[in-house]
Amino acid sequence: MTDSATIRFLLDGEVVEIHDADPTRTVLQYLREDLRRKGSKEGCAEGDCGACTVVVAELDADGTNLKAINSCIQFLPTLDGKELLTVESLAADGALHPVQSAMVANHGSQCGFCTPGFVMSLYALYETNENPGRQDIDDALSGNLCRCTGYRPIIAAAKDMYSAKRVNRPNRSAELESIQRESSLHIEHNGRRFFAPLDADEFAALFAQYPTATILAGGTDVGLWVTKQHRELTTIIYTGRVADLRDVKVTDTHIDIGSAATLTDAIPTIVEHYPGLTEMFRRFASPPIRNAGTLGGNIANGSPIGDSMAALMVVDATLVLRVGAVEREISLGDFYHDYMVNDLQPGEFVSRIKMPLPSDDAVVKSQKWSKRFDQDISAICTAYRLVLDDGKVKSFRMACGGLAATVRRAKETEAAITGLPWAEETIEIACVALAKDFTPISDMRASADIRLLAVQNLLRRFFAESERGDVETVYTYGR
Ligand SMILES: Cc1cc2nc3c(=O)[nH]c(=O)nc-3n(C[C@H](O)[C@H](O)[C@H](O)COP(=O)(O)OP(=O)(O)OC[C@H]3O[C@@H](n4cnc5c(N)ncnc54)[C@H](O)[C@@H]3O)c2cc1C
Ligand code: FES
Ligand code: FES
Repeated sequence: MTDSATIRFLLDGEVVEIHDADPTRTVLQYLREDLRRKGSKEGCAEGDCGACTVVVAELDADGTNLKAINSCIQFLPTLDGKELLTVESLAADGALHPVQSAMVANHGSQCGFCTPGFVMSLYALYETNENPGRQDIDDALSGNLCRCTGYRPIIAAAKDMYSAKRVNRPNRSAELESIQRESSLHIEHNGRRFFAPLDADEFAALFAQYPTATILAGGTDVGLWVTKQHRELTTIIYTGRVADLRDVKVTDTHIDIGSAATLTDAIPTIVEHYPGLTEMFRRFASPPIRNAGTLGGNIANGSPIGDSMAALMVVDATLVLRVGAVEREISLGDFYHDYMVNDLQPGEFVSRIKMPLPSDDAVVKSQKWSKRFDQDISAICTAYRLVLDDGKVKSFRMACGGLAATVRRAKETEAAITGLPWAEETIEIACVALAKDFTPISDMRASADIRLLAVQNLLRRFFAESERGDVETVYTYGR
């Protein structure tokens, strides 16, 4: 077995080597079935419940970067070069970790099924935030479901875990350094292949060579193709190790986001420039999903209820697409052709996402409408970009997800109100035009009638907020 085919990661300070791994075996299956390490539980196998939450640490410019992820949808080879921490990793020398002691002291567990997942989400919070506020705690736990204890004692434990003497995590930078690779991981197993190229040129060459391969980024969509749809993925090319697709930078004109940058890494820069997108991104899935999932994956997946695209469309974002060494740039508004059909050609991938920097006179806002506040797929997602001149609409862009086969602009509505006073009567004109822009369908998330009424009401709300001058408010829904 060659070095390039061996997965190497750290577990409890030891280097684990896996030869001949099945590329689509999940981390959770490996933990429970191969290592018989059964603290991490399987509830949903689709990233929704948090029972399988583990923590991974990666080397970064500041030392190590530590994040909670859902082990049920992560493929085993994605651990290569990282440290894995599970609930069994926490207690040292027979003493519970402060997170665990606080859960015990505050009665944070009843049946216990969800508990390892909560402990690991709290552990990630403990390691990354020394003084979290209530909203930080709520957000950190938004990917964990508990059906019996209730959240009050768990939140009490989250506050209490800081009162015990702080336990410092062993610094594993040297061990992590020792398992970094110079050449890329390439696994062949029973007719399945997995490549983890290290730079964009190698990635582009591989995808040009295997144009029908599955690109794997965070796996928060692709993982479910295996765990829920039982799809056979024969060739996988992973973007997670491609350093020059993972960066986020700000130029004179754009926020320039590598397609493999995680949502967690990209969101702070985006909302710093576009604070009106804070609510949508805060409610985009959960921290473990955002820690793995990428903006590039959200766009390339192209779900009609994907959350980021409406906002990116109204600010006129463009995509840099690449095949081999050839790049082209396309407006996101021209990228989607039909339900889950986009402009990518064989061997072509999304390389970068470019969001123009905001202009001072424009107000940008996105709204997410779903049945639950946290960790829920949108029934409707909207975004607006408004420029007023002397009380009149100089420019108005609106885009919506959940109302058509793709996320798309509301062009009739935009045209109907451009030049009119920004006033209640104008919004009613826009609401009539919205019914021409979209003919929504009914599904389990909402009926067609309700969807149309909801998008009209969301627009009325945006107007009311703009009148009050508080479009950047983050709604807390009674919290
Ligand atoms: C529990 C849960 C909650 C979720 N909640 C939300 C939510 O609130 N809002 C929302 O919008 N989505 C949500 N999602 C969906 C998912 O998290 C997002 O779509 C995410 O952005 C996908 O990114 P990824 O990196 O995980 O993509 P992956 O799963 O790795 O890939 C997704 C698709 O994109 C392709 N792809 C990835 N990168 C590229 C590239 N560079 N070029 C070309 N193709 C590429 C893949 O081949 C695949 O077809 C949720 C998913 C789960 C499991
Ligand atoms: S088992 Fe439910 S999130 Fe993984
Ligand atoms: S303790 Fe039973 S589900 Fe949370």
